[in-house]
Amino acid sequence: MITKHFFGSLEDGREIYSYMMKNANGMTVRICEFGGAIMEIRVPDRWGRMSDVVGGYDSLRDYVLGDGYLGALIGRVGNRICDGKYTLDGKEYTAFINNGKNSLHGGQVGFSHKIWSVKPIDGEEPRLVLTLVSPDGDEGYPGTLTVTVTYALLKSNALSIHYEATTDQRTIVNLTNHAYFNLGGYASGKVFDHVLQMDADRYLPTDDSLIPTGELRAVDGTPFDFREPKTIGRDFDMENPDIKIAGGFDHCFCFAGGETKEPVLRVEVYEPNSGRMMQVYTNQPAIQFYSGNFLNNPEHPLKGGYPQNLQALFCLETQKMPDSINHPNFDNIVLDPGEKYDYTTIYQFSVKN
Ligand code: GLA
Repeated sequence: MITKHFFGSLEDGREIYSYMMKNANGMTVRICEFGGAIMEIRVPDRWGRMSDVVGGYDSLRDYVLGDGYLGALIGRVGNRICDGKYTLDGKEYTAFINNGKNSLHGGQVGFSHKIWSVKPIDGEEPRLVLTLVSPDGDEGYPGTLTVTVTYALLKSNALSIHYEATTDQRTIVNLTNHAYFNLGGYASGKVFDHVLQMDADRYLPTDDSLIPTGELRAVDGTPFDFREPKTIGRDFDMENPDIKIAGGFDHCFCFAGGETKEPVLRVEVYEPNSGRMMQVYTNQPAIQFYSGNFLNNPEHPLKGGYPQNLQALFCLETQKMPDSINHPNFDNIVLDPGEKYDYTTIYQFSVKN
């Protein structure tokens, strides 16, 4: 079932709506036209009690002015581009600098701050088809990029996100979603007890502006080794230069074997108190695991007035490696006319006793 709700008006008077999808188990997912943001995901715990497991805001104003990209779709290029500069076919481009000396998450008005057009397709597995046309030169990126993101709420209590894009000129693209999770409920405190497992054998160390140095470092013997399940908190305070720079986890993890044809299970997170588990399936080659190290802005409290709190939510942003365009040994994020950007990420929810 899909229902449409008025959410708020922008300064120019434009009305913004949200869409609530619900499946037969009572799981709900709410998506906003603004930023295509996931505003709410309600899933049962091991006793069948529903909680909202993603961070979000109560007011449109916070989505417009807040700085954490809560639940938003990210583009054209997720994460940071060093100095906002890159070269494509011999031509230098400059993306908007909005994060120290770097460009972050698409620039000044990235996809997280655009109004998406939403087509609801109701049914047993309700879907929302979001589209956006990013004009040639938008935020310094070449080519008209036509983007479709389909959110589907599956019978199995999964949220599937299908990303598609085409261009009329050679360009770069690296899309993701920036949902912040806490499987105990978004207002349940720090996420250190969550048990995380990731099929990632390498991670990307960064400089102090969080730009990858270019090295793909083996996770062996580091706090970044999540190949066997361990709590997010276990090695959080370990003396480690990479953790220190980022104030926690805020790193790209590269999946063993890289990109796959179909989505495969790559990440599993379990919250022992509620019993909730989330599994991430994707065909993307990498994931940014971010432990909410900047989440402390008192001006933008979360839903219900709950304050932002460091490490009280985490993100698992499937994508290609950040700043790939400036590192020949990283992923290829170039998209040519006639080619289709086509990736799927599935967040599967369940419980474990
Ligand atoms: C990403 C980045 C973080 C931070 C957040 C947004 O996850 O890796 O460094 O910028 O987005 O606050």
